[in-house]
Amino acid sequence: MTYSWFKALHIIGVVVWFAGLFYLVRLFIYHVEAQTQPEPAQGILKAQYALMEKRLYNIITTPGMIVTVAMAVGLLVLQRGWLHDWWLHLKLTLVVCLLGYHFYCGRLLHQLEQGTCTWTSGQLRAFNEAPTVLLFVIVLLAVFKNNFPLGGTTWAVVGLVIVMGLSIQLYARKRRLDQEMASH
Ligand code: HEM
Repeated sequence: MTYSWFKALHIIGVVVWFAGLFYLVRLFIYHVEAQTQPEPAQGILKAQYALMEKRLYNIITTPGMIVTVAMAVGLLVLQRGWLHDWWLHLKLTLVVCLLGYHFYCGRLLHQLEQGTCTWTSGQLRAFNEAPTVLLFVIVLLAVFKNNFPLGGTTWAVVGLVIVMGLSIQLYARKRRLDQEMASH
């Protein structure tokens, strides 16, 4: 029963953490794009995005991360045998990458607030794809464990995710070009 509670809360933590990460970088994109607006709209938009980013990071994203990791520790205390398994070692390595992503977002948030961020919106769009890849592999490792699937289904899903990611990038580029043409 305790184990099931840990697992349920672990999964809820994951959902909250990822919702926060995905939306946060989307806000960063809007924040950077606000720099092309004339004043006073630019100042108002930037202040509003900075506030939304700070609240999202502190009230949703970081607590989601803490719940995910705290519940995972509980799961491992009750299931110590997995500590010797390669799937868990790989999962933990990817979680360290995810934590790095999380804290780097905290740094970008600070830079955007200070006006010292040098990232373009196109770069942030690509950056926003990284957690999707981590989510995909980490969930497969959690579900399949040592029997990680490398068959057709996995590659079909990988292909689909790549096509979706590229479509989003191309659509954003087309919109940017259309806007540039309209403003000339
Ligand atoms: C500190 C980092 C983490 C550790 C030590 C950890 C460990 C675990 C453990 C021991 C389980 C139980 C597996 C089972 O009962 O079959 C589990 C379940 C799960 N974890 Fe994690 N996890 C971590 C982070 C994450 C993250 C970041 C994600 C999502 C990206 C994630 C997704 C899942 C999912 C979806 C399950 C449910 C799997 C199932 O019931 O089949 N975990 N995790």
